[in-house]
Amino acid sequence: MNGRVVENPDQWIDFDRDRILFDGKPLESRDRVYILLYKPTGYITTFKDPEGRPVVYDLLDGVDTFVSPVGRLDLDTSGLLILTNDTRFAERLTNPDYKVAKTYLVKCADLVSDDAIERLRKGVELSDGMTRPALVRRVRDSGKYSHLEIRITEGRNRQVRRMIEAIGSKVLKLVRTAIGPIEIGGLKIGAWRPLTEAEVRALGGNPPKSAAWSHANPLGRD
Ligand code: URA
Repeated sequence: MNGRVVENPDQWIDFDRDRILFDGKPLESRDRVYILLYKPTGYITTFKDPEGRPVVYDLLDGVDTFVSPVGRLDLDTSGLLILTNDTRFAERLTNPDYKVAKTYLVKCADLVSDDAIERLRKGVELSDGMTRPALVRRVRDSGKYSHLEIRITEGRNRQVRRMIEAIGSKVLKLVRTAIGPIEIGGLKIGAWRPLTEAEVRALGGNPPKSAAWSHANPLGRD
C-alpha cells in the first residue's frame, strides 16, 4: 500500500488516494453499486442460511456485483433494504451519529393509548438502554388494533419490536417504509431497483461520476 507491505487485514484503504499493489499488480476498485430491495417477510438478511431458508440474495437476480445489506430486517419484517459494496456509505447509514431516519409502519396487537405513544416519543427503557426520542404518530385504529408510524434514528437489534413491547403491546406486522427520504414508491414486494444518483446523494453518499453509473447499475427488475 503506497509502497509499504501491509499485513493487517483490517487496513482501511481509500481507492481514490492510495496506490495498492497485490502480488505486484495494481488493484482497482469495483464500480460502486447501490440496490434498493423491497424485502418480503420470510427472507433472512444474510448470505446463506444454515437451515436453508430463503435469503435476500435469492431476490437479487441480475445483480452481478457482491453487495452487502446495510443493517438488517428481521425474518418477519418486510420493507426497504439497501445493499451496497460501498462500505463508507453503509457505515454512514448505520452509524446512529449520522441520524439517518428509518420509518416503520407497525400494526400493534391491541389499541395503544395516547400516553403510551407519548412514552415512545420521549424514549423507552430497553435492555441496552433508553431509546432516542422518536417521531410517532397514530395512523389509525382499526377494531382492536392500532397502526402506528414510527421514525427512529438508531438501528438496534429488533428495536421497534422491543419498543412496542416496552409499552406493553406486541408487533403483529412491521414494514420499513422509508430510509431517510427514500420511500417504497412503486417498488413491488420482492423487487429491487438501483438507487438513483440523487438518492445516493440524498443519503449522504458520494456516487461515482455518471459514465460509470449506468454501467454499475443494470436495470432494476420488478
Ligand atoms: N425493528 C425491528 O424490531 N425489526 C426490524 O426488522 C427492524 C426494526
